[in-house]
Amino acid sequence: MHLKGIEEELHRDLSEVKSLSDLQQVKAKYLGKKGLITQAVAGIKDLPPEERREYGSRVNRLKEYAEQLINQKEEELNREDIQRQLSQEWLDLSIPLEPLQGTHHPITQTLRRIKNIFVSMGFSIMEGPEVELEEYNFDMLNIPKDHPARDMQDTFYVNKKGYLLRTHTSPVQIRTMLSYKPPIYMVAPGRVYRRDDDPTHSPMFHQVEGLVVDTEVGFGHMKYTIETFLKEFFEVDVPVRFRASYFPFTEPSAEVDIGCVICRGEGCRVCKQTGWLEVMGCGMVHPVVLENCGIDPEFYRGFAFGMGVERLAMLYFGIDNIKLFFENHMRFLRQF
Ligand code: PHE
Repeated sequence: MHLKGIEEELHRDLSEVKSLSDLQQVKAKYLGKKGLITQAVAGIKDLPPEERREYGSRVNRLKEYAEQLINQKEEELNREDIQRQLSQEWLDLSIPLEPLQGTHHPITQTLRRIKNIFVSMGFSIMEGPEVELEEYNFDMLNIPKDHPARDMQDTFYVNKKGYLLRTHTSPVQIRTMLSYKPPIYMVAPGRVYRRDDDPTHSPMFHQVEGLVVDTEVGFGHMKYTIETFLKEFFEVDVPVRFRASYFPFTEPSAEVDIGCVICRGEGCRVCKQTGWLEVMGCGMVHPVVLENCGIDPEFYRGFAFGMGVERLAMLYFGIDNIKLFFENHMRFLRQF
């Protein structure tokens, strides 16, 4: 066929192309193995030598031109395709959702509030395992082998020797000091287990541990941190007092009381007529514990505290039986 004729037919064919598969057919018709242009290229060698040069360059120009037109058409079709998709498929991200039906469990709410307060004071959150090494739960915390807390009465042991269900979150202090260099400012929330069961004790409950290790840390910093936390947590200016106490892993140690939030210090059943409620244990980290974790007590000082989450939640919400948190009756949970 005459080259001019091929070119005109190509234009006509391309103007009728509606899809990529139409285009494939056009491409095959001109540039495929038996395509019109491919055949014209193959015919060059059959021409007399004096015509080859001129005809050859015209055929090659036509071939390049055809390739260019087909590529352009392909891009055009792809663009149209995307445009079509964009106009047909869309999401309205502003459609309001049905309000969520559930709420968080009161213990989850309490844990979150506690964590938020400490995070706002610059503390990090740490976690440790619930099946813990006896060594971290007791030995390294300076709890001697004959200490009453080790008694089978209090601790759940597991079948594997050397392991137990952690009785407090204090082993996370050890884990943190073993893996991080001071300065340390952390709180460790989590479940703990004790063989205890009555209206104010549950065999599984939650604690939040706190640990600070730094160079210039004293009892005053601990007192300020705990007082600030308690006032934030109870959302009132609760009276706070520190009572001398004993923990093997802190020295000096104290128990922290708040003015009874139920009777405001008048004396009631909840505070057993004392006007005060115990809410946590605390103290300056014992030098032996720092040493156990490879921290030089000549240079670093620390304070630690541990609080019971269920106890704080009971006082905050005015709940008198810890079992209500675990029975999960809807009538109870709906109130939060
Ligand atoms: N681990 C102690 C307990 O469970 C609480 C505590 C933590 C006391 C940190 C002092 C320092 O009773």
